[in-house]
Amino acid sequence: GRTDDGDSNDADAPSVPGDLVVVSNRQPYSHEYDDEGNVVVDEPAGGLTAGLDPVMQRVHGTWIAWGDGEADREATGDDDVVRMPPDEEAYDLKRIWLSDDEVEAYYYGYSNRVLWPLSHGGIWKTEYANRHWRRYQQVNGRFADAVVDAIDEDSVVWFQDYHFALAPRMVREEAPDALLTHFWHITWPGWDTFRACPQADDLLDGLLANDVLGFHVERYCQNFLDCVDQAFEDAFVDYEDNRVQYDGHTTYVQAFPLGVDADGIAESAASADEESWRAFKQDRGIPEDSKVALGVDRLDYTKGIVERLKALEEFWKGRPERQGELTYVQKADESRSLIPEYQNLQTNVQEAVERINERFGTDEWTPVIYIDDWLDSDELNALYRYSDVMLVSALRDGMNLVAKEYVASQVDDDGVLVLSDQTGAYEQLGEHSLVVNPHDTEGFARAIEDAMTMDEAERRERMSALRENVHEENLDAWMADVFAAAEEAGERRSDADRQ
Ligand code: G6P
Repeated sequence: GRTDDGDSNDADAPSVPGDLVVVSNRQPYSHEYDDEGNVVVDEPAGGLTAGLDPVMQRVHGTWIAWGDGEADREATGDDDVVRMPPDEEAYDLKRIWLSDDEVEAYYYGYSNRVLWPLSHGGIWKTEYANRHWRRYQQVNGRFADAVVDAIDEDSVVWFQDYHFALAPRMVREEAPDALLTHFWHITWPGWDTFRACPQADDLLDGLLANDVLGFHVERYCQNFLDCVDQAFEDAFVDYEDNRVQYDGHTTYVQAFPLGVDADGIAESAASADEESWRAFKQDRGIPEDSKVALGVDRLDYTKGIVERLKALEEFWKGRPERQGELTYVQKADESRSLIPEYQNLQTNVQEAVERINERFGTDEWTPVIYIDDWLDSDELNALYRYSDVMLVSALRDGMNLVAKEYVASQVDDDGVLVLSDQTGAYEQLGEHSLVVNPHDTEGFARAIEDAMTMDEAERRERMSALRENVHEENLDAWMADVFAAAEEAGERRSDADRQ
């Protein structure tokens, strides 16, 4: 593989078994126009794209993703490929240009009005349209073609997420020996939910063309195996070895809990100081002696934002003496706003914030500070480091990296994580968090009280255990596990060929 090139001396960096081809809907870098109309490059903001970028730089792979706008097109030119990052030119970013209709039907339509709600268990929120499904198939075909063009016999293909359930089968048909891995970043539902989908068989068939299929936690793996077992009579499902034999091919289904770049986050958090925190509180009208609870979310109905606000309302209502003692800061990022469900959510969140502020607010104190504009990194670092409590209340969430980012930022071991038991993160962090069921408003309100009154010794004990976990099970460890599984699958394949 390329990692033997000798251009890396980072002993901890995960080794990649071959030439890596990553396929994701979102691209690691996007081009934008600045105020003068010049094309400028946006750096990866965080999460997976930011974490994979250094790996790609090291192994000089190929990244295939949706090229999202005019500025991308202008910067890319006619050949559809740009070298990234701009100054290093270490790897190929191959952009797939989608028409408005493709975006509407493949991204907003099938991906986010069917697969997103379905995977999170929300069959009532799914909306099926034949046109969306046909576009999803067609766009998967366009990405699959790009993969086939990019690979050779040493390649490892790594698909990201639910935008590409069909592409693996399409690649397999053209390149029977390709080594294909896939990570599904959201939950996988039980069969009784999944069977509601008219395209259930096609989706399973597409994913079973992979050699390795990863989920965050073992329960999602078992759900997937059960779906295959129920849907396909001719599939052999091994629940102990997490393996499916189907159509002459073996797929290994494995749990890889995604982690964060804990060292990098800790370093950023440590760069914030109490001075900037005091300034932030003053700017936003938060009383100096008020504690702060924080929520950071993409505005998505899976995140339980309305339920969280309800719990806060219950908290202040039942404890008038706490009014003014705890302020809640909601950092919200608008998301998928062309979809009515997301517009409804935005309205519901707005209304809840206004209602609460109206009900309890005074001249000196606003209970909920809602921030939907951009925060500079100093402010964000200070928020993550100095907020006393983090509230993560997702109704269903494959992992939830915000919880891990908060923990990694707690360089003083001083904050408290309140965590929904409906997240993948709960499997790793539940033991040392204050666990809530987001639907249990009173229990949630009590957890907020417990979090803000917890004594220092207990806070330290819990937070240092949490920090240890996110540092150990970090992003590099995750990638190393995924690549090791890919390598094993490749080796098993060559063994089988030799026999
Ligand atoms: C989730 C998905 C990602 C997606 C992200 C942001 O985390 O698993 O694949 O990129 O949400 O959503 P967006 O639709 O804006 O890409």
